[in-house]
Parts: sequence; C-alpha cells; structure tokens
Amino acid sequence: MNVVITGANRGLGLGFVKQYLNRGAEVWACYRSDAGALSGIDKRTLHRVRWDVARDDGPVGDLPNAVDLLINNAGIYGPPKDEQSLERVRADVMLEVFNVDCVGPLRVVQHLLDRFTAGSVIANVSSKMGSVADNTSGGTYAYRAAKAALVMVSKSMAIDLAPRGVHVITLHPGWVRTDMTAHQGLIDVQSSVAGMAEVIAQARDYEPGAFVAFDGRLIPY
Ligand SMILES: NC(=O)c1ccc[n+]([C@@H]2O[C@H](COP(=O)([O-])OP(=O)(O)OC[C@H]3O[C@@H](n4cnc5c(N)ncnc54)[C@H](OP(=O)(O)O)[C@@H]3O)[C@@H](O)[C@H]2O)c1
Repeated sequence: MNVVITGANRGLGLGFVKQYLNRGAEVWACYRSDAGALSGIDKRTLHRVRWDVARDDGPVGDLPNAVDLLINNAGIYGPPKDEQSLERVRADVMLEVFNVDCVGPLRVVQHLLDRFTAGSVIANVSSKMGSVADNTSGGTYAYRAAKAALVMVSKSMAIDLAPRGVHVITLHPGWVRTDMTAHQGLIDVQSSVAGMAEVIAQARDYEPGAFVAFDGRLIPY
C-alpha cells in the first residue's frame, strides 16, 4: 500500500506516518522545509519528500506512480484567535490561510491526479471549525473560512473522482494536543490518528465527500 502524507514532520502528520509504517505501508512523508522528526525514523519503507503545499512548484523528490492513499494533512491555523476577529482579521491573513488550508490540498491532488487508481482513497483533513452548521461561537475568520472551503473542495473532488473509483472523504481529527493547539486538547495524537485510520479503512461506508470525525461520527456541513 502506497501512502502519501503532507505536513508529515510533526503533529498529526507524523502520527499518520508512524501509524501507516506500523501497518506495513510504504509511506511518502512530505514536509514543508525541515524533515524534523522524520530524520530519526530509520525504515526502508519511509521516503522523505520536500513539498511546500503553499507553492505551485510541486514536490522536490519522487512520489510513487500509484497512490493508494493520500492524506492531505498539512495546514495552518494562522495568527492567534484574537487576530482573527471581525475587527482585526486582515485580508493578507485570510488569503494566506486559504492558500495553505484549501488551495494546498487541491494543488496536491492536481499534481497526483494521474497516480490515483480505482480503489484509491483521498482523505482531506479539515476541522469541525469549518462546519457552518456547527458554528455557534463565531470569530476565527481565516481558519474557519479556509477549512469550510476545503469541505466544499473535497466534496467536488469526491463527485468528480467517483467515476474513476477514487473515494474522497473529509476528516475532523478531534481537538488534539499538538503545536497547533499549544498542546491543549481532549485527545492525544495517537488516539486521533488511530481513529482516523479506522475511518479511512472504512471510507467506502461513507458517502463520497462525507465529513467524518476521528470517532466515525458524521460532522454536519
Ligand atoms: N490539532 C487539532 O486539534 C486539529 C483539529 C482540527 C483540525 N486539525 C488539522 O489537522 C492538520 C494537522 O494539524 P496539527 O494539529 O498536526 O498541526 P501542527 O502540529 O501545527 O502541524 C502542522 C503541519 O502542517 C505543516 N505545514 C504547514 N504549512 C505547510 C505548507 N505550506 N506545506 C507543507 N506543510 C505545511 C507543518 O509543517 P512545518 O513544521 O514545516 O510548519 C506541520 O507539519 C491541520 O490541517 C489542522 O488544521 C487539527
């Protein structure tokens, strides 16, 4: 099984790398600029590839000719919450977060389009913060908008790729203790990733483009 993971040098991405190496997969772990903890993993089945998803250049290094699973995990939150308020959020912040969190996964899929085959799965990591239905607290304009847009991009991908037998789902990892959350959160990386890996394994039980949490529950759009 060939697995490509973006944003794989820390946090949930690194957790996914360990999860799929342990499952015996060949893993292409993509990192923006610093391989970080990936350098310390000595496994013949691990391939490290530099890939900044905010740029159009594409990856620096080889990726597999056939991709069985792509996890579009790379993402940013942007500046702290109080700088994403109605009063203070700036256009350049909106655009930067949108570029990484929404356009990034689209770029990656466009680049790999010829490498998906019938049976391939694409998992786009969004966030419950990107659910319009779940938004009861407002604020966080850049992150919420970018992750909501990713849900839509993921749904269109799911519809467009279904005739090729490629199944696309959108994931919510839960509130996880990583750098992004300043190590606050309800669950650790291992629990989140183990749950999402189970959802991915059952991806075809969900409708194309379904938005699914780490515990298998559907997130309303
Ligand atoms: N943690 C949570 O509670 C939570 C909840 C909902 C959704 N999520 C989503 O889950 C995903 C992973 O989050 P995390 O908690 O693991 O965050 P994290 O610890 O901040 O890690 C983010 C990862 O994304 C990478 N990245 C950022 N910009 C990139 C770019 N332009 N190109 C390639 N890689 C880039 C980072 O690489 P560098 O080290 O090079 O910066 C890092 O590897 C994100 O999409 C996030 O929005 C997280």
